[in-house]
Amino acid sequence: MNKTVLITGASSGLGKDFATLFAEKGYDLVLTARREKNLEAIKSNLTNKFGIKAFIISCDLSDLKSTEEIYNFCEENKIQINVLINNAGYGLTDSFEEVSLKDHIDFINVLSTSAIALTRLFLPGMIKRKFGRIINISSVAAFAPYTNSGGMYIATKLMLLKFSEMIHNDYKNKNIFSCSVCPGFTHTEFHKEMKDFKSSIPSFMWMESRTVVEQAYEASMSGKEIIINGWHYKILVFLMKITPKWLVKLLSGR
Ligand SMILES: NC(=O)c1ccc[n+]([C@@H]2O[C@H](COP(=O)([O-])OP(=O)(O)OC[C@H]3O[C@@H](n4cnc5c(N)ncnc54)[C@H](OP(=O)(O)O)[C@@H]3O)[C@@H](O)[C@H]2O)c1
Repeated sequence: MNKTVLITGASSGLGKDFATLFAEKGYDLVLTARREKNLEAIKSNLTNKFGIKAFIISCDLSDLKSTEEIYNFCEENKIQINVLINNAGYGLTDSFEEVSLKDHIDFINVLSTSAIALTRLFLPGMIKRKFGRIINISSVAAFAPYTNSGGMYIATKLMLLKFSEMIHNDYKNKNIFSCSVCPGFTHTEFHKEMKDFKSSIPSFMWMESRTVVEQAYEASMSGKEIIINGWHYKILVFLMKITPKWLVKLLSGR
């Protein structure tokens, strides 16, 4: 029987590339996101190409009931999840007071709480089967000390990073490894609405989505707790850790 991976945010970007990579490795897929048409197209392409099984669930993770619907769908169809990838996410560009409370809560639900809910729902099955890999897509932003209009993004990514660390340390002796993946700027649909911002970032700072996904796969399968993608981001994170906070704030401000 093939192993099965559940991927949130599978309709584009990193999630779509995770689906392709796991299909290449012979995994069956459970793909979720809101855009059903994209999911249908990815399902039909990958099932035809690799002869694997794929299921799609169109849902909005800002509503936490969706996480139970995903779990119930898997239970009803006797699908055992061996790998869980908490990947869905987006950015907020307005300042904190310009975003409504509902939009803040939706944002936290999509980026963090849904990941915690899905882990809580699928972890007992992993414990029972003595195997589980959980990949949480955080960001190098989790290491950034400066809070501006991206502040809630930094906060949710840090929460996911710490949550992932907890799961890894509490369950690694049960052969369940949770890996935080921390990419920097990556070519996906994430910056679609931020064309000016995108062009202001030097090209060497950008990574290909497929590269990030391959590195995440290797790190997770070999039981790593965290991966920072790309040598330049590893250096940046190291510098942010050793540089005094006031200086980092000054430089980020500029
Ligand atoms: N690209 C970067 O530079 C970068 C850097 C660091 C970290 N990340 C993280 O990487 C992850 C994947 O993003 P990406 O770069 O691949 O961007 P992307 O191409 O925009 O993909 C984001 C995915 O999240 C899904 N999603 C968004 N809102 C959702 C909601 N309310 N309910 C369910 N699914 C939702 C989208 O699907 P639908 O729209 O179909 O729902 C889409 O599949 C995110 O967590 C992001 O924070 C990205």
